[in-house]
Amino acid sequence: MIEDYKNFLKEILIDRVELQERIAELGAEISRDYAGKELLMVSILRGGVFFTVDLMKSVDIPHKVEFMAISSYGAGVRESTGDVRITFDLQTNIRGKHVLLVEDIIDSGHTLSSVIERLSAQHPASLEVCTLLDKASRREVEVPIKYCGFDIEDKFVFGYGLDIDDYFRGLPFIGVVDLEKYVPEE
Ligand code: PRP
Repeated sequence: MIEDYKNFLKEILIDRVELQERIAELGAEISRDYAGKELLMVSILRGGVFFTVDLMKSVDIPHKVEFMAISSYGAGVRESTGDVRITFDLQTNIRGKHVLLVEDIIDSGHTLSSVIERLSAQHPASLEVCTLLDKASRREVEVPIKYCGFDIEDKFVFGYGLDIDDYFRGLPFIGVVDLEKYVPEE
């Protein structure tokens, strides 16, 4: 079992209130931009789900949601490698739909760049990206971001969808790991 996160929590980077306020703003913006359009949110499992659910509650126009699961070669390795596979695909045709990809974080950009390339080929009416967090300093491939919750520095963050060894996704805030106190499991 992993130890209590409080043992290695360095700081709360974004608290519950800040998160929810920003998500409400994003939801209002998306509702305005997509009014009268067939909006389909595509949530990237697993981390993106927590943000997606709250974002959906803030979007007050009719919309649908679908899910995709992606795995990078060498899953379990924290760094994304650029070799990206889709392990769970969309269940409906997106041709003519206004697709909004929803992610918890964009780091190297490889995951979303690969998803965008694949979905573009299916001729959606539009294809945009909404990410809660953007770690732009880590970018290796460019990703066009339409909606961004917060720009963050290159820190080891967790909570609200972001995991440490698959734990702590359910925390309502974004925390920073104190690397001097955190000892990864064998
Ligand atoms: C995280 C995140 C993005 C991806 C971003 O997912 O949710 O999908 O990494 O990294 P990139 O920009 O370098 O490609 P992860 O692979 O950790 O899977 P998870 O959501 O299941 O935790």
